[in-house]
This record gives sequence, structure tokens and C-alpha cells, in this order.
Amino acid sequence: MFFESNVPLQTHNAFGIVARATSLLRVTDVASLQVLLADPQFVRPPESAVFILGGGSNIVLTGDVKLPVLKVEIKGLRLVTETAKAWIVEAGAGENWHDCVGWCLAQGYPGLENLALIPGTVGAAPVQNIGAYGVELQDRFESLDALNLETGECFTLNAAQCAFGYRDSVFKHASDERGFGLAGKALITHVRFNLPKLWKPVLGYAELDKKQLECKVDEPSALQIYEWVCAIRRAKLPDPKVLGNAGSFFKNPTVSPEQCADIIQREPRIVHYKMADGNIKLAAGWLIDACGWKGKTIGNAGVYEKQALVLVNRGGSDNPVTGGEVMTLAKAIQTSVYERFGIRLEPEPVVV
Ligand code: EPU
Repeated sequence: MFFESNVPLQTHNAFGIVARATSLLRVTDVASLQVLLADPQFVRPPESAVFILGGGSNIVLTGDVKLPVLKVEIKGLRLVTETAKAWIVEAGAGENWHDCVGWCLAQGYPGLENLALIPGTVGAAPVQNIGAYGVELQDRFESLDALNLETGECFTLNAAQCAFGYRDSVFKHASDERGFGLAGKALITHVRFNLPKLWKPVLGYAELDKKQLECKVDEPSALQIYEWVCAIRRAKLPDPKVLGNAGSFFKNPTVSPEQCADIIQREPRIVHYKMADGNIKLAAGWLIDACGWKGKTIGNAGVYEKQALVLVNRGGSDNPVTGGEVMTLAKAIQTSVYERFGIRLEPEPVVV
């Protein structure tokens, strides 16, 4: 393995932003990376380690990346073991997420179908605990292997150790004084899923229920749900290959029941969901939409006309949006949502 210099990143990020990596290494296997890390010639910046790139589906590049980029291309899909209760499937971190979902279904291991068509790689999935249509990665997670980039040692984490939260995990946090946080310090190499044999469809999400009614199917199969999820996503989320975007740009904010009651008094139509812990989740897309942002554009950064939560590259590949334009639009949205609702929206993608 060797570092490539001055590598264009436009095709390696889903917004299609033009930027370069000063040096980039394609990581195809664990052992070669360990050899490299042990090489005294390999000098890393002292405090901020490296930048790990998966499919580039959840990043905003605001300039060239000066840190060494490790592009994860570790492949492989296999059944690790089969117990009386579950199939344990392992995927290399560089596998395409959607292909992994499709492979599991084709082998007869259902459970990931609600997460179909989420862009990105398998290794990125635990980082932000991807979720859609009532299922989060943590619900199907068994364990993962990662490489400590300081020592070169491999280690395994279970779900508790990953500290999953809503679009959150230990991999999204820089290490703190307690030693918590693995951002830039560890590279996920393999992820294992626990797919229960006692499969039950996860429905109850309004759009899935609508599909079920339309199709008049009482007991949908995993494949049927997979197809519904693909159809729903295709209808309302832009394909990054056609219109650059990083999926939902903001997290859905959480408020206390008291805060929610106060907002409902002023905004009776606000879309909100009660969570298991009693707090209320608000639909960020609704908040942004209510502020009139749908279809608006600043520079080459736009708000998608079918889903206000998604920011898009209006300049295509010839005159692409810059990371600065994306962040200017994001800040303008945050300001107007704050002024109207008193709620601070938090970006979902990693800003580099
Ligand atoms: N809404 C509007 N206007 C909009 C967008 C949404 O009024 O422009 C309303 C919708 O009508 C709906 C509510 O807001 O009542 C929620 O919208 P939706 O069901 O589309 O889900 P979401 O909260 O916008 C989340 C995830 C998506 C995931 C979907 C489906 C986050 C930040 N986003 O979106 O994840 O696919 O639920 O489960 O949690 C992603 O993370 O990139 C992503 C696409």
C-alpha cells in the first residue's frame, strides 16, 4: 500500500464538492495497514491523527484535506455463524451498505431491509448509527472490529462500547479526558450484524403503512419491505449520483414535553413524535419547510424541493457547490429556525 499525492476528492464525496487530499491511502486489508503504521517513516500529525473516508456520503468538504486520508476499501461478506436464534453476518467496512443489505436478503437473512438504499459504506454505518423507517443500525448490531491507529492493534467493540445514540456513536467524538471518543483514532475494519431468525416486519412508519394499504398485503415479506423502502426513498430523496447531497443535513431535534407544549401553542401543526424516554422529537424537515426554505438556493447550494431536510448541489459537476456555500445556507437555515421556533438545529454530516 502506498500514499497517493494530491488526490481529487470530487467523486469521493456525495455533494460532489471539489477538494483534494494532500495524501490518500486506499486501505484494502488490515495487515498492510498494520505494516504501514509500524513503519517509522510514516509520520502522522501529533494530535489530530488521520481522516478516515468511507463512501463520502455524510461529509461536507470546506477545503483541501491536509490530514492523511485513509480510504477504507476492505471488502468481504460472509456468514460468520448461525445459532438457533440468529444469523451473524460480517461485512468488510469498505462494502457498499445497500449492496450488503441486498446480499443478506438474497442469502435468506432478513432484518436490514428497512435500511435499504442508505448511501455509504458498511464502515460508516455504525459511526452515525444509520437509521430509517423504524430501524437503527444498533437494533441489528452484533459487534465490530477496529484498528487502533496509534498502536496498530485490532480490537472488538460490542454495542454498549460503541455508545450508540441517535445518529451518534463513540466514533463521532474526539477523545476526551476520560478516554471516551475514537474519532480519527480508530479505523473500523469489519462490522457484524445479528439478524434474528424469528423475523418480524418493522412497520408502523406512516409511509410504509401507506404502501401496505395501497398494495393490500397483510403480511409483507422482508423483500416486500425492501422494495417499499427503496420506492419511498427514490420518490423523495435525491440520488447523489444525479443531484449531489449528503442525505438529511440536520438531525431531528429533541425537546422536553414542556418545551413541545409551548411550541404547539404557537404552532399547532408542528410534526412531533414521542420517544421512549418521554422526550419529544421534532421533524427538522417540517421546521425548515415552515420557514419557507423548500426549493430555495444560495449560490450553488439549494434546499431540495421534495424534502427540506436535504441540501443539494445545484451546480452539478461542472460548476459544483463549495463547502462554504453549503455551510452558508446551513447557517441561514439554522438562524431562521432559531428565530421562529427557538430551536437550534444540529448538522448531521461531518464538516471537514
Ligand atoms: N416534513 C415536512 N416538510 C419537509 C420534510 C419533512 O413537512 O420538507 C415532514 C414530513 O411530512 C413528516 C416529517 O416532517 O411528517 C418527517 O419527515 P420524514 O418522514 O421524511 O423523515 P425525516 O425526519 O425527515 C428521518 C431521517 C432519514 C430517514 C427518514 C425515514 C433524520 C435526520 N433523518 O427523516 O434519514 O430516511 O427519517 O426514517 O433522522 C439521513 O439520515 O440521511 C436520512 C435520510
